[in-house]
Amino acid sequence: MASAAPATQLDSYRETWRSKPVLRALYADYYRRMVKLLKPGKTLELGAGSGHLRAHSPANSTGAVLTDIQPAAWLDAAADAQALPFRDGCFDNIILLDVLHHVENPALFFAEAARVLKPGGRVVMLEPAITPLSGLFYRHFHPEPVNMHQDPFADVPASPARDPYDANQAIPTLLFRRHRAAFSHHFPSFRVARVRNLSLFAFPLSGGFRRWSLMPAFLVRPLLMLEDGLLMLLGPAMAFRLLVMLERR
Ligand SMILES: C[S@@+](CC[C@H](N)C(=O)[O-])C[C@H]1O[C@@H](n2cnc3c(N)ncnc32)[C@H](O)[C@@H]1O
Repeated sequence: MASAAPATQLDSYRETWRSKPVLRALYADYYRRMVKLLKPGKTLELGAGSGHLRAHSPANSTGAVLTDIQPAAWLDAAADAQALPFRDGCFDNIILLDVLHHVENPALFFAEAARVLKPGGRVVMLEPAITPLSGLFYRHFHPEPVNMHQDPFADVPASPARDPYDANQAIPTLLFRRHRAAFSHHFPSFRVARVRNLSLFAFPLSGGFRRWSLMPAFLVRPLLMLEDGLLMLLGPAMAFRLLVMLERR
């Protein structure tokens, strides 16, 4: 009798997604904010993981191509963000949720993004933000490292043995907060159209893709409404997320 294939990390994330209503409620808000920034047309999702963009983007779903560096039955293709298997100028948008900080050589990704996007096309990303408070949380209660001293523009050689979950959570903050002017200098084909703080309480209380949560799902909506009112004031000191939109010149 044939034995079932061993569960992959993506299978396990998909199971967590299925069994954790608080996670789905929180990520529905993330997808809503990201999808609002997409242009009409064809969207490429990179690092799609357990793969939920279509469910949250009915208007975009027919033109969406879901990919990840790890293959999975529910995704359209396997694709490394640093070497995209698509022709020049064929997408209107690229969307990434918690992916950029896993990419070993971000410069290769931005070159590839500029290549496959049409002029005026967008890159929409939601990533960790390192602020004084979130930095403490991420350093002490999150397994992925935070290294504020890495050069985010360095042209590092790709290592074949790299794990897809290797990460530096500081990369988005380094690129779009600390070195934003240098980003525009290194990647002149992109205009940084938007960088917003997001997420104060609901994300850390939810436990993300970990099994635990300190909050019931019904509290997510009211807490997010409260966060919206407080983000201007508290975001610089404690935001856990960055929402970034780039526009291809
Ligand atoms: C933290 S998970 C996020 C998954 C999904 N976007 C979500 O939010 O549930 C990061 C994902 O990025 C993928 N990944 C890592 N390096 C990548 C690369 N170079 N190109 C494309 N995907 C990559 C991983 O396989 C993983 O599925």
